[in-house]
Amino acid sequence: MLDQHLSIYTFCCCLQWLLFVQALLVVAASSDSCHFPAIFNFGDSNSDTGGLSAAFGAAPPPHGESFFGKPAGRYCDGRLLIDFIASSLGLPFLSAYLNSIGTNFSQGANFATAGSTIRQPYATLTQSGFSPISMDVQTWEFSQFKSRSQALIQQGLFKDQLPKEEYFSQALYTIDIGQNDLTEGYFRNWTTDEVKSAIPDILDKFVLAIQSIYWEGGRYFWIHNTGPFGCLPYVLDRLTLKAPEVDRFGCGAPFNHVAQLFNQKLNQTLSQLRKDLPLGVFTYVDIYSVKRELLSYAHQHGICCFQWLLLAQAALTVAASSDSCHFPAVFNFGDSNSDTGGLSTAFGAARHPTTSPSFGKLVGRNCDGHLLVDFIASSLDLPFLSTYLNSIGTNFSHGANFATAGSTIRQPYATLTQSGFSPISMDVQT
Ligand SMILES: *[C@@H]1O[C@H](CO)[C@@H](O)[C@H](O)[C@H]1NC(C)=O
Ligand SMILES: *[C@@H]1O[C@H](CO)[C@@H](O)[C@H](O)[C@H]1NC(C)=O
Ligand SMILES: *[C@@H]1O[C@H](CO)[C@@H](O)[C@H](O)[C@H]1NC(C)=O
Ligand SMILES: *[C@@H]1O[C@H](CO)[C@@H](O)[C@H](O)[C@H]1NC(C)=O
Repeated sequence: MLDQHLSIYTFCCCLQWLLFVQALLVVAASSDSCHFPAIFNFGDSNSDTGGLSAAFGAAPPPHGESFFGKPAGRYCDGRLLIDFIASSLGLPFLSAYLNSIGTNFSQGANFATAGSTIRQPYATLTQSGFSPISMDVQTWEFSQFKSRSQALIQQGLFKDQLPKEEYFSQALYTIDIGQNDLTEGYFRNWTTDEVKSAIPDILDKFVLAIQSIYWEGGRYFWIHNTGPFGCLPYVLDRLTLKAPEVDRFGCGAPFNHVAQLFNQKLNQTLSQLRKDLPLGVFTYVDIYSVKRELLSYAHQHGICCFQWLLLAQAALTVAASSDSCHFPAVFNFGDSNSDTGGLSTAFGAARHPTTSPSFGKLVGRNCDGHLLVDFIASSLDLPFLSTYLNSIGTNFSHGANFATAGSTIRQPYATLTQSGFSPISMDVQT
């Protein structure tokens, strides 16, 4: 379903193989005096280790083939730069926040999803190819991750899967996002001038996200600038250029100029952030130059592959029938009538009075008490259902809940912010 769009993200893979040498060097250099016990990452496909896959369907083979031997949530056939950064700091690969199964957040969490933008996307994932988990949503998720993980630890629960409180101020906060905000403009048929004129607003939203992480205690920021997207096959394939606009490396010059302008303004923005958030340490990492070098001289560096995936995606089917009257588990699909925390976990959306005498706190239900699905579970002697998108403190021994408030059967016609309808429509839930 989404593969046509997802194929556009795969450009990053081969680069990462070669980038890692540089990454190891720069990380090692900067970490001489600092020890980072955890990494919290925000971004797009360049650093998604399973977020989009967890919510919208697994990245199919050949993703993951060359290193993990199977799809590993990355839109890449091997490891991403973020994997090399983690390894070079002696940390395990980052678990995706939206991945509730087999994850371990002791030393960090990854909020990136492939196709993410800084600004909210203008259309749904299916319509545009851009993820609904934009950077603001990623910071809402991070706030919840912090408060809910610490609440569990205080109760003595899941201590071996969640980060210690002090890690939030000691961690490295890595951010690689922005490219999709620029390509999105072009895909909407904006002129180069129109895309350029959006940059100040894109960076204003970026600043809001950084401030939000800073106010949660984040201090060490490692920020990648954006790559030369004018060299990327999916961009050149979708957008037409006049001959003089193509440079001697076959790249779209206007697109790369926009990337450079964005980077210049990003660099200025970081200078301002250093003044405004004086306890923060902001490192600007010039990924553009490294990627430009690699792409321009690809043959010399031995890069062979840009992968185009149009493979059909295996559908998850839940065996529904049961010939006995004993149900050991419940798998639920639906909307707010049965959402036990899905939308809240991903989008922080249950802001209504959702505290109840029964629960005594916010419990992810868009409801102030128990939902029908809670009573069904209880009547079958089963615990309340954990939500599939909730990676913290959940237990799927007796089922899982795929419902999110605002879900539709058909795909929504607009984004969550525009329409109020969840991007997790019924097809996505299955
Ligand atoms: C999670 O990872 C940490 C190290 O990063 C390890 O000490 C801990 O045992 C792991 N927890 C589980 C449940 O595997
Ligand atoms: C952009 O223009 C092309 C060609 O005219 C058209 O097919 C496409 O629908 C347009 N895209 C948008 C988002 O308007
Ligand atoms: C970023 O800006 C600083 C000045 O604030 C400048 O010294 C540096 O060269 C710039 N970095 C890049 C990669 O352009
Ligand atoms: C999950 O729930 C089952 C029963 O509902 C229980 O036996 C098991 O110990 C729980 N697992 C954890 C990790 O709490």
